[in-house]
Amino acid sequence: MSEKTKQFFKSQFNAEPTYAAFAPGRIEFIGNHTDYNGGLVMGVAVTEGITVCVALRDDQNIGLVSDGAAAMEIALDDLKPIKGPASWTNYPVGVTHVMRGLGMKMPVGYNIAVTSTLPAGAGMSSSAAFELATAKALAALYGFETDTVGFARIGRKAENEFVGMPCGILDQGVSAFGEADSIVLIDCATEVFRTKLMPKDTHFWILNSNKKHALVDSAYADRFQECKDALAILQKRFPEAATLSQLDEAQVRACEAELGDVLFRRALHVVTENARVGAVESALAVGDLAAVGAAISASHESSRVNFENSIPELDTLVDLLKKQPYVYGARLTGGGFGGAVMAFTGAEFGAEHAAVVAAAYQAEHGLEATVIHTQAGQGAQLL
Ligand code: GLA
Repeated sequence: MSEKTKQFFKSQFNAEPTYAAFAPGRIEFIGNHTDYNGGLVMGVAVTEGITVCVALRDDQNIGLVSDGAAAMEIALDDLKPIKGPASWTNYPVGVTHVMRGLGMKMPVGYNIAVTSTLPAGAGMSSSAAFELATAKALAALYGFETDTVGFARIGRKAENEFVGMPCGILDQGVSAFGEADSIVLIDCATEVFRTKLMPKDTHFWILNSNKKHALVDSAYADRFQECKDALAILQKRFPEAATLSQLDEAQVRACEAELGDVLFRRALHVVTENARVGAVESALAVGDLAAVGAAISASHESSRVNFENSIPELDTLVDLLKKQPYVYGARLTGGGFGGAVMAFTGAEFGAEHAAVVAAAYQAEHGLEATVIHTQAGQGAQLL
């Protein structure tokens, strides 16, 4: 898997890499915008991901090369986020900055080459994969030790504090903890991670809408803020609640008037979504795939109506998928405002069914959906 990345490293830096690491992208299975609200979420690490190769340099710079982007060199004493076409470097540089802050000694800089099998912008979190692969590789290169939660936290901190995206632990946590054929369950309040084998003969399909939302980062930040504002109002009535996830639907409904329409619907989405994650866990335990699918589709409906992080293109894909045979449920996956939908299906669902959906989608929106049939794979690892 790393041969291509090794060759790329050699061709760019004229030297052998010392370490290679891989980290996967993820599917958000269910648990939408619950992570930064202290809630429950389930994700799946996919087999597609990011591979990096690294080696020490003898000066104080970081040299970065990526398939399809101009090479960059950044001084170790000048690590700050940058804008524009080279902003892809913020992920490894942010991780470097965070690991240094945690005590990693870097007497010299390093070279890093990156390649990806994850479609960018597909809502499968290539950024978390890049962060986790970098963190694993740098830990080996500089002799830094931490555990799996530690790696996930490094990635999230880089994203929150360096990249400037106020995400929760979902993407980095799933990329760190993924296991073959398994789902990762996260209690974001306690940062306890568990994995569970998926039922036999169930499959994941990703359909990327290829609809780009120009303001996706600010839309995400707006929702983050709205959840905070809703919590502040709810706390007047329920001061013991430290997060939205410590409240239930009845408590949110009791404050509808104080919250006002928008904040009421945002809070309702979060508390009902936590309940749906719980329902999926119970349904998986007894193999009730119809109930799993129903909760998945209900999650999308709540996104569409209450959290308003869906867009017409995603709604169309979900509606079309639900009309196909062998689909248990479908929903947007990830932050929303563009990106992809996920379908949870039986083994009989095939490329021919996905093609019917893609054709109808194209007829309605004039866009080509990218179809990915993926599997649950291993979390971040040295190669
Ligand atoms: C993005 C963020 C995650 C999570 C999801 C929505 O993927 O990076 O932390 O908030 O959106 O559930």
